[in-house]
Amino acid sequence: MAEKTNKGYLTGKEIRAITKANAKEMKRLEAYKNRKAEESEFLSEMKDPKNILEIEDLHTFFFTEQGTVKAVNGVSYDVPKNSVVGVVGESGCGKSVTSMSVMRLIQGPAGQIVDGSIRFNAYDYKRNEKGEPIPKAGGKEGEFEMEEKIYDIAKMPIHEIHRIRGKQIAMIFQEPMTSLNPVFTIGEQLDEVTLIHVPGATKELAKAKSEEMLRLVGIIPENVYNAFPHELSGGMRQRVMIAMALAAEPRLIIADEPTTALDVTIQAQILDLLQDIKTKIDGSILLITHDLGVIAEMADYVVVMYAGKVIEKGTVFEIFQDPKHPYTIGLQKSKPTMTLDDSTELYNIPGNVPNPINMPDHCYFKERCAKCTAKCSGDYPGMIQVSPTHFVACHLYDEENENG
Ligand SMILES: Nc1ncnc2c1ncn2[C@@H]1O[C@H](COP(=O)(O)OP(=O)(O)OP(=O)(O)O)[C@@H](O)[C@H]1O
Ligand code: SF4
Ligand SMILES: [Mg+2]
Repeated sequence: MAEKTNKGYLTGKEIRAITKANAKEMKRLEAYKNRKAEESEFLSEMKDPKNILEIEDLHTFFFTEQGTVKAVNGVSYDVPKNSVVGVVGESGCGKSVTSMSVMRLIQGPAGQIVDGSIRFNAYDYKRNEKGEPIPKAGGKEGEFEMEEKIYDIAKMPIHEIHRIRGKQIAMIFQEPMTSLNPVFTIGEQLDEVTLIHVPGATKELAKAKSEEMLRLVGIIPENVYNAFPHELSGGMRQRVMIAMALAAEPRLIIADEPTTALDVTIQAQILDLLQDIKTKIDGSILLITHDLGVIAEMADYVVVMYAGKVIEKGTVFEIFQDPKHPYTIGLQKSKPTMTLDDSTELYNIPGNVPNPINMPDHCYFKERCAKCTAKCSGDYPGMIQVSPTHFVACHLYDEENENG
């Protein structure tokens, strides 16, 4: 993988070398993505059976003419069953690229999962030797035999991703209008989810399911089923998106800034709804947001990302009551609170995130860190365990590790 050799500009020769190396790498990764593979090639084992998702050492890069953007550069975190995991970090730190990698929505050939595992505990159809789902003996229409399978999503050929995407893992985006089709009614779009994901589903079954899901998100189906997306308010559209995500009965919902485009009261209603739904579907939520207040209220665990890496993770209590990394401490200080009076200025973490094409070898936060010591100019800090559930990547805690 070619890198630029100076920080100021690239020569024509350097650009040609980068383009050539990138083209080769992109071709290799595209071929891997589009290969035919037996299921056994992407079956895996969970490290901890209590998890629904385990992301391990994930690397997702974008190959550009300027060089390789290491958007996700060795990210590892878990989502335990029946939990809400909140992911925070400044804009551009790789939160969305990580979740898009889980959904395998990274746009190739420039964007590629280069390395790492995304293990997911799927509850999938038991299949016969022809690969067809086996109907459940004595079951109703659309009911099939099921079994647990651990898939490594990163290793799945892209044409197999329908087993997971939208069904086992559903995603709710910031702006529902980008995911809703303006020319179809809400009912048609909701029905489609069941028709795609439940083998043999009839239109009647799909409609009954759609109405059930609308009721679950607090919408009277008669008012909305025949409406077009533009006829609904932003809050209602986001409810519809959640209904759509739920229609396939996912085990994991990824919500990427689900309330950022909504006003405060509607935000609170949607968050309550998400919390409520987590219990109803008996599943987990991966919640990505800039808003630490939302995380504090919703999450059981928190992952803090910085410049394509996880720099701290722990329970919500550990991250809020006992933050360790200077960046996490800075984030907390830059959060508005009810107790601040008008004369108190919000803390602003000085400096900027380093250029993702030219990451230094040392801690990426060094140039912005007030606690930096001589050691910080050395290797990038490893992940240090400070409690059974709390981890931090910062040299300040190296000794704690050395002392066990
Ligand atoms: N298609 C692309 N081509 C090149 N670089 C990209 C592409 N998509 C994302 N990136 C880069 O990947 C990095 C991570 O982006 P990502 O969207 O994951 O950030 P984020 O943490 O979700 O930020 P935000 O809070 O603004 O949503 C950024 O540096 C971004 O510029
Ligand atoms: S490793 Fe050093 S520079 Fe990096 S966050 Fe810790 S103290 Fe600051
Ligand atoms: Mg994002």
